[in-house]
Amino acid sequence: MKDSPFIYGTTVSTQAFTNREEESAKLKANLLNGINTTIISPRRWGKSSLVEKVIHDIKRSEKSRKTVVIDLFSVGTEAEFLELFTREVIKASSSKWQEWLQSGKNFFRKVTPQLTVGLDPVSDFNVRFETKELKKNTDEILNLPETIAKEKGIKFIICLDEFQNLAHFPNYHAFEKKMRACWQRQKLVTYCTYGSKRHMMNDIFNNPSAPFYRFGDLMMLPRIHSKKWVSFITKSFINSGKHIEPEAAALIPELMKNHSWYVQQLAHYTWNISKRKATVHDVYQALKELVYTNIPFYQKEAENISRTQLNFMKAVANGESRFTSVAVMDEFQLGTPRNASKNKTMLVNNDIIQEENGQYQFLDPAFELWFRMQYMGEKLPGSK
Ligand SMILES: Nc1ncnc2c1ncn2[C@@H]1O[C@H](COP(=O)(O)OP(=O)(O)O)[C@@H](O)[C@H]1O
Ligand SMILES: [Mg+2]
Repeated sequence: MKDSPFIYGTTVSTQAFTNREEESAKLKANLLNGINTTIISPRRWGKSSLVEKVIHDIKRSEKSRKTVVIDLFSVGTEAEFLELFTREVIKASSSKWQEWLQSGKNFFRKVTPQLTVGLDPVSDFNVRFETKELKKNTDEILNLPETIAKEKGIKFIICLDEFQNLAHFPNYHAFEKKMRACWQRQKLVTYCTYGSKRHMMNDIFNNPSAPFYRFGDLMMLPRIHSKKWVSFITKSFINSGKHIEPEAAALIPELMKNHSWYVQQLAHYTWNISKRKATVHDVYQALKELVYTNIPFYQKEAENISRTQLNFMKAVANGESRFTSVAVMDEFQLGTPRNASKNKTMLVNNDIIQEENGQYQFLDPAFELWFRMQYMGEKLPGSK
């Protein structure tokens, strides 16, 4: 028997990648035509995978485009960011590490970066700036890709993952203005910025008084359609030497509300449990396993939620949308109206719930199932 064809926990850009044809085509066209693009969606819906796939395609077909992908998840300061940015831009600019070491002389006038390589130059190439120089000449560093591109007759595409993380920097507002001012003027560099903290991303890119407003196209990445999931799941079972009943294949995205990461995880557990042909019963078994495996995370998450917020979530689970009506406030003990709307804002900003077409929903479908068991006395779907 082959291995499970379902992948979660890392980005998928080739084998386990399903559809997103429209989004891929649009993003690719934007990036090749110099249109900066921002992608926003809840976490684990597939932003990083989409960007990776598009960059993979571009690398194959457009040899003169240099591409850079930087994950800002664990970058803590402006200096760290600028050093990482410089390092990755220099690395992408040439395939020869000997040339990387020349970049300090070739592309900088005011700053003298310290460039070093280790035993394995490719994995061990480092950039350091002096703090004073760095503070005075941030512009020169931010303009590095444009400088190199002009000099070498190339173009850059620079992708910055979990961009909202920069907003935690001490002097973010001043830095934000600088980035915007430099990057907006660059003609040979296109930026793709994306992130999962939606209210922060919206504050940065979708707020008329913020510097990055209208920096480029804004893409709200949707969920992958049920139909696409069903055919992906069915085909993947067949290609790996198994089968799945049509009802079972449909049940997987349905239970996981088309959430990319969870659909893959539930499909993976189902694949593992099943014999030759996966059944609806297998899916329910797999669901149990999935929820129980995740319990420690969910408990931790719930620890940070206040009593009245938990009550608010019960109202959401119950399908309510008029949270300040007397009946709803009484039934779920939501506190004062002010309390209720404050809790709503906090739960939305912390990505626990979201509004979709006037209705509120949990963002994490499996967390919701656990929540219903834990706080509302419900059973898991398919359990007696
Ligand atoms: N196009 C896709 N097709 C199939 N699975 C996907 C796709 N995009 C994402 N996934 C699944 O979702 C998981 C999370 O995707 P990722 O790209 O890391 O999301 P994000 O960057 O939005 O947090 C992946 O590990 C994979 O299991
Ligand atoms: Mg990501």
